[in-house]
Amino acid sequence: MNIQAASQHTPQPTPNVGQPVSRNNHANHELSIRVRDLNLWYGETQALKSLNIDIFQRNITALIGPSGCGKSTFLRCLNRMNDLIPSVRIKGLVEMDGRDVNAAKMDEVALRRRVGMVFQKPNPFPKSIYDNVVYAPRMHDLVSRKPEQDELVEKALRDAGLWEEVKDKLDQPGTSLSGGQQQRLCIARAIAVQPDVILMDEPTSALDPISTATIEDLMDRLKEKFTIITVTHNMQQAARVADYTAFFHLGEIIEYNDTKTMFANPATKKAEDYITGRYG
Ligand SMILES: Nc1ncnc2c1ncn2[C@@H]1O[C@H](COP(=O)(O)OP(=O)(O)OP(=O)(O)O)[C@@H](O)[C@H]1O
Ligand SMILES: [Mg+2]
Repeated sequence: MNIQAASQHTPQPTPNVGQPVSRNNHANHELSIRVRDLNLWYGETQALKSLNIDIFQRNITALIGPSGCGKSTFLRCLNRMNDLIPSVRIKGLVEMDGRDVNAAKMDEVALRRRVGMVFQKPNPFPKSIYDNVVYAPRMHDLVSRKPEQDELVEKALRDAGLWEEVKDKLDQPGTSLSGGQQQRLCIARAIAVQPDVILMDEPTSALDPISTATIEDLMDRLKEKFTIITVTHNMQQAARVADYTAFFHLGEIIEYNDTKTMFANPATKKAEDYITGRYG
């Protein structure tokens, strides 16, 4: 275990809390999201328990753990989507680029522009491929003139690896695409507003192996520009794509580590049992 070595690199007000046990030497280590003592209740039931985690910019962080352990709930804390659920109560700190996400003065619309989300089931709007991509940029006043919009749509679709497949049918409904193409359209839609962070909740679990591989390749390219946090039940996927992995269990983060170490040499028995399929 390499706690001391890890803490030498980044000065921390609370030493080691939320830090991965060891660091991936090749990765970028600028902090994107800092979570401290985060607790969340649905009514009387506590779903997140004193979470501490530092998430690094332009890396992929995978959240793994058994069903019901709080992965989706945690993701929703990062773009304040839990605010939409009336029974939710939250205590603790979520900071993005040093700013408190839950502060009263935080503009939620601006926050959701900075934090895009992609869901398990591709959910294009009932609009054309073109309008799916341009809808949010228009809403946020990022583009107005038609040539600007065309350029933005092409760029987002290219970045999402979908341009060649759809460039001749941009006026057709997004829902007319295959599942894998729809998911790339949803990724294009998320990146069209140039967010800092992209949250992905089991983005490939409804897709066939080829579409899954395409999305994994895409994630690998997107991390040059975006911080990606992805939930997966597929251990091979976490091992393939993620720089860092956090193992959740019953609302707690049991272990957080660089992915190589997490899979080759987990520090806790619970993470080891889960990763090796003995539990879950
Ligand atoms: N809207 C809600 N109202 C009440 N309880 C909820 C709500 N959403 C989630 N929960 C509860 O919070 C806990 C964590 O759920 P969450 O969906 O975050 O788990 P998860 O790790 O994403 O699971 P899965 O892998 O099955 O998607 C569970 O006990 C769940 O029943
Ligand atoms: Mg979930």
